[in-house]
Amino acid sequence: MAILEGRNLRKTYRLSRRNTVEALKGVEISIDQGEMVAIMGPSGSGKSTLMHILGLLHAPDPNHGPAPELRLAGEDMAALSDNARTRIRARRMGFVFQDFNLVPTLTALENVMLACEYAGIGGKQARQAGLEALALVGLEDRASHKPSELSGGEQQRVAVARALVNKPEIILADEPTGNLDSDRSAEVLALLREFNREHGQTIVLVTHDAEVGEACDRVIRMRDGRIRDQGQRAAAVAAPAMATPAAVAAMAGPAVATA
Ligand SMILES: Nc1ncnc2c1ncn2[C@@H]1O[C@H](COP(=O)(O)OP(=O)(O)OP(=O)(O)O)[C@@H](O)[C@H]1O
Ligand SMILES: [Mg+2]
Repeated sequence: MAILEGRNLRKTYRLSRRNTVEALKGVEISIDQGEMVAIMGPSGSGKSTLMHILGLLHAPDPNHGPAPELRLAGEDMAALSDNARTRIRARRMGFVFQDFNLVPTLTALENVMLACEYAGIGGKQARQAGLEALALVGLEDRASHKPSELSGGEQQRVAVARALVNKPEIILADEPTGNLDSDRSAEVLALLREFNREHGQTIVLVTHDAEVGEACDRVIRMRDGRIRDQGQRAAAVAAPAMATPAAVAAMAGPAVATA
């Protein structure tokens, strides 16, 4: 079953009247529930632009031709109000960005708890969920560290904890291992893989790293604002446990071994 479907997705950035960049030139994409998909392609090919649209952070351009379509689990996202989209983003999606995007003045735990607040969860419950998410990435003993007091790999794991804390159905990660050395990169990747396998979460990640791509179920290749290759779906994209409430509740399990 497709969890994310896009059609006729276009995006033109207009810098001035004459200076425009056609970042997406009509993209069609379909991601199945439980898939772990890599998006690869040269710098400037439109990967981040596509991720922003799939993550409801930016809207696709209204077309002159066929209208853009974006569906999440069959539901039309274009028809929703900004508020409804923001709610869906906060509750059903988790984001990991290449530059971590942690708030420097907040501790690791507070950074993770921020995602709870956005999803309308506060107080003790947020604290508990935040600590559990940090434990999942093996950082429970770093909860009170600020980002500047953490290594790059640890910061990235905090970002992963923040993406996971609300147990989202979908995780969108833009070069989640881009700033990490190969050991840390393998760690973060293994963590994402584990969530995908055990909890059936759908993961879409952008990467320049062929090894990361190989570790995914499918590689979608972009070039010059278009999808050049949708890739082969794995024979059995096992979604052993779909992201049901019971399955995601199980995420509060023991800490994932790291390193
Ligand atoms: N806010 C913006 N304003 C103007 N042009 C933009 C903007 N964001 C991206 N672009 C342009 O759109 C094109 C696609 O950018 P995008 O960030 O999607 O590429 P990318 O595939 O993620 O590249 P990279 O691998 O370097 O991250 C590029 O040519 C870029 O210069
Ligand atoms: Mg990018």
